[in-house]
Amino acid sequence: MAGGQMSFKRNHRMSLRRLRQSPLVRDLARQHRVSAEQLIQPHFVVEGLRGRETIPGLTGVHRETGDTLVRQVEKDLEGGVRKILLFGVPAAKRERDFSAGFTSAQIASLKKNFGKDLFVAVDVCLCSSTTHGHCGVMNPEGDHVENSATVAELAKAATLFAQAGADCVAPSDMMDGRVGAIREGLDAAGLERTLIMSYSAKFHSKFYGPFRVAADSAPKGGTRLKDRATYQIDPGNARDALASSLRDAEEGADILMVKPGLPYLDVLARLSSEIAKPWAVYEVSGEFAAVELMAREGLMDGPAAHVEAWTAFARAGASMIITYGARYAREWLSNV
Ligand code: PBG
Repeated sequence: MAGGQMSFKRNHRMSLRRLRQSPLVRDLARQHRVSAEQLIQPHFVVEGLRGRETIPGLTGVHRETGDTLVRQVEKDLEGGVRKILLFGVPAAKRERDFSAGFTSAQIASLKKNFGKDLFVAVDVCLCSSTTHGHCGVMNPEGDHVENSATVAELAKAATLFAQAGADCVAPSDMMDGRVGAIREGLDAAGLERTLIMSYSAKFHSKFYGPFRVAADSAPKGGTRLKDRATYQIDPGNARDALASSLRDAEEGADILMVKPGLPYLDVLARLSSEIAKPWAVYEVSGEFAAVELMAREGLMDGPAAHVEAWTAFARAGASMIITYGARYAREWLSNV
């Protein structure tokens, strides 16, 4: 009897490596894989540029003019990239009464050129429009971003972007109540099919460095508020991310987002299992650039590392991924 038990054990000894033995078996056993259709390509379009400019750390991404944007999007479409997230950077910086004119014109031009072939999401925030680089309207003392005045500006801009043809508006400012105000504005304008993708779990992160160069949106001084800690979520506080995501879902967001991605995978895993909405994750500029810079130094296989990060996002529950590498995805995904 003892012998029988031993042979049972021998025959059924657990092997995890049996399922790792060949690419074909691994293909079949893999639980999560990323497809290029899940990815969203960010674009920066900057008013008043003479020609497009490269962005340190973001390989292949440019600060575009209106014309080069259309050409780049056209080229990307030929490669199958059909979803974009647009950041408009107006030339005139103000303290209030912002103009959505430049960004709206870019949206209209993309829609005129590409129509329904292209899904256009547009970032809604004021940091590229303000003199001081904060994401809203400052109080006269310069030590506080006023919530209601900011939300009113955001709702106004979101409605104008949607009227210009945006399929989706994506508020990234982290003011309280902006999703509800945007949804009301859209409804009042009869735009009931415009999606809202809320940056609902956006952390106060150091990983936004290259973006702030691209979008000309770093806090610039001139106020008594040095950083965005009074509106973005504290990195140590996952509960806050849950609360703001629940609230944004309640206020009418269709898609919720965790941002940055890799440092906040725990938040993505937890929130996506608790809140039954499509989840987006943003592989932000600093995460993207970290891989690119290591690859450039010969310290890492960059494309494979990006695919590994994207796979982690899918595993943690994201159904869509915003990444500066979306336009390379077909090539990168076929090489792993
Ligand atoms: C605007 C905004 C930021 C990002 C997207 N929208 C940066 C910030 O809060 O300063 C970051 C995106 C990236 O780093 O790629 N508020």
